[in-house]
Amino acid sequence: MRLFFALWPDDAVRVELARWSRELHALCGGRATLPGNLHVTLAFLGGVEDAQVAEVEHAACEVAPKTVSLMLDQPGYWKHNRIAGAGASLVPPELAALVSELRRALAKSRIRFDAKPFVSHVTLLRDAREPRVMPELAPIEWRLDGFALVQSVTLPRGSRYEIRKSWKG
Ligand code: 2AM
Repeated sequence: MRLFFALWPDDAVRVELARWSRELHALCGGRATLPGNLHVTLAFLGGVEDAQVAEVEHAACEVAPKTVSLMLDQPGYWKHNRIAGAGASLVPPELAALVSELRRALAKSRIRFDAKPFVSHVTLLRDAREPRVMPELAPIEWRLDGFALVQSVTLPRGSRYEIRKSWKG
């Protein structure tokens, strides 16, 4: 199954993100992430054998969830993959520590993941055009209190992300 670790928003943050996503979509077009799929990826595992899922969950149990605020305050457009979204101009040290502890625990258990550096962002649009000017983003405050292991389920009309397990602070 296809798995990744992520920060999962509460309803208030999800509503704010979805609202700004509609503004962004009016300018950039593209395919919008379904509100129920919005997240920040911490570590992308990709395909994992069913038999290895327990090890993945076990590795994550070694990681202490952090309680900290993340400010999504930076409109982002990534030319190389035509993604537009909301980023954070500052990654709180607690979040950076969470990502490195999680990735260290996975590596220790020989669980493979995409080693690309963590980029604190929520993808809102794919196949998006680069706008001349990004719309203003009123900072969205997200109080983090844990992280989740998420499964990507492929459906005829796209992917749906489902939380398999979450760890709370
Ligand atoms: P993206 O939104 O910036 O594309 C599920 O695919 C999530 O995992 C997405 O948030 C995606 O990031 C992220 N991800 C990170 N590395 C990935 C990879 N190598 N392949 C697919 N998705 C990846």
